Amino acid sequence: MTAATGAAGGPLQFARNERRRFYEELSEFLRIPSVSAKSEHDPDTARAARWLRDHMAAAGLEAEVLPTAGHPVALGEWRGAGPDAPTLLVYGHYDVQPPEPLDLWDSPPFEPSVRDGRLYARGAADDKGQLFMHVKALESHLAARGSLPVNVVVLAEGEEEIGSPNLLPFVKQHRERLEAGTVVISDSAMFAPGQPSLLYSLRGLAYFELHASGPATDLHSGAYGGAVRNPANALAALLAGLQEADGRIAVPGFYDDVEEPDPEALARVRALPFDEEAFAQEVGVATLAGGEKGRSPLERLWARPSCDINGMASGYAGEGAKTVLPARAMAKVSFRLVPNQTPERVRTLVERHVRNNAPEGVEVRVAALHGARPWRAKLEGEVFEAAARALEASFGRRPVLAGEGGTIPIVVELEELLQADTLLMGFALPGANMHAPNEWLATDCFERGLDALVRLYDEL
Ligand code: BES
Ligand code: MN
Ligand code: MN
Repeated sequence: MTAATGAAGGPLQFARNERRRFYEELSEFLRIPSVSAKSEHDPDTARAARWLRDHMAAAGLEAEVLPTAGHPVALGEWRGAGPDAPTLLVYGHYDVQPPEPLDLWDSPPFEPSVRDGRLYARGAADDKGQLFMHVKALESHLAARGSLPVNVVVLAEGEEEIGSPNLLPFVKQHRERLEAGTVVISDSAMFAPGQPSLLYSLRGLAYFELHASGPATDLHSGAYGGAVRNPANALAALLAGLQEADGRIAVPGFYDDVEEPDPEALARVRALPFDEEAFAQEVGVATLAGGEKGRSPLERLWARPSCDINGMASGYAGEGAKTVLPARAMAKVSFRLVPNQTPERVRTLVERHVRNNAPEGVEVRVAALHGARPWRAKLEGEVFEAAARALEASFGRRPVLAGEGGTIPIVVELEELLQADTLLMGFALPGANMHAPNEWLATDCFERGLDALVRLYDEL
């Protein structure tokens, strides 16, 4: 006899009873500064992988750390349901974004702190906290019943925040071990507080560096300005030329592959309760003036491409004035993509555009950093329904179907390689400060989300 999910001695009860310990363990995980972008943190990133392995092993999974050409993968497996039972693949990432600027944190990024119902730490929401919830859901089932209704593989990578450059070869190499009918990912947000969501789309990404170089060395801007072309001016002109006044991207051919959102998806978006003013206020701007005119903010965020400068560097930016004509200028520029755009095609178009528009007297070079294809859910069947029931039982509200403007690079490739469908159910909240100072995860979402993940296994 196995205990029912919600019964005394069942997995739900176990998860509730062990909550304090779960928070302590999550804090331990969050204390490891597994910043994948910085090589000085490589030992920490490796430590986080081992922590996760040990933790999955303690939860009752077979677990190991496997190498890649970059940061390692922590893999957990439970195959007790037998070869004929379906397999679920849980994907997440244990790496985090750099915490800087440190002075903007109210408590240190790697010293987790609970305030006002929020657990603050780098990675609390993206994605350590959410990945941890999955491990705890598995532990709760295995502890309460000794078994799960399906086989489970947990694939936790350490390079998501740098574009997952080595995960595809890993997945290809270990394809048989990763074989699964469904991929489940919690690395996103709910639509609103109290309102769980299932995602039906993610945008893709094409990320570049633009380098403009001019004179052999920095020059006196009086002695040379007006005769020598300034690379910063030139780059600024190029950057300004990437967008039209109406917000459309000005790179010729850019929209050729952009599919108009289908009417059904648009109607679904319009039916969502979205308060544009509150959203603007939350991020501290007067109006939502980015992107294309004539389309709603959610449509612009979820179903239309965008172009953003992520960083710029050139010349003198210190205190006071320095009259200088810089020898070089650099900008980081990213494009978010929608079906049927590909990062490769966008790269070709951007390179051509820059070549055709580079002002005389400077040399402009485009370096492609990472890319990812956009994703759309194929899934509206049984698994979707199971997840919806689990979320409804835990949050007291049926989930809404929502899109997402961010990117999870491996999703499309995992689906293609494994011939699987993906379920994206996230438990962060809007405003969770992913990638920003004071990242947080609501304790209520952690608890209800964990509850939902425990239920998911019984609903499947
Ligand atoms: N978890 C995010 C993606 C995300 C963000 C989903 C917000 C839902 C809401 C993920 O860790 C991420 O930051 N992805 C990067 C991808 C990039 C580094 C290749 C992104 O979207 O910028
Ligand atoms: Mn993430
Ligand atoms: Mn992220």
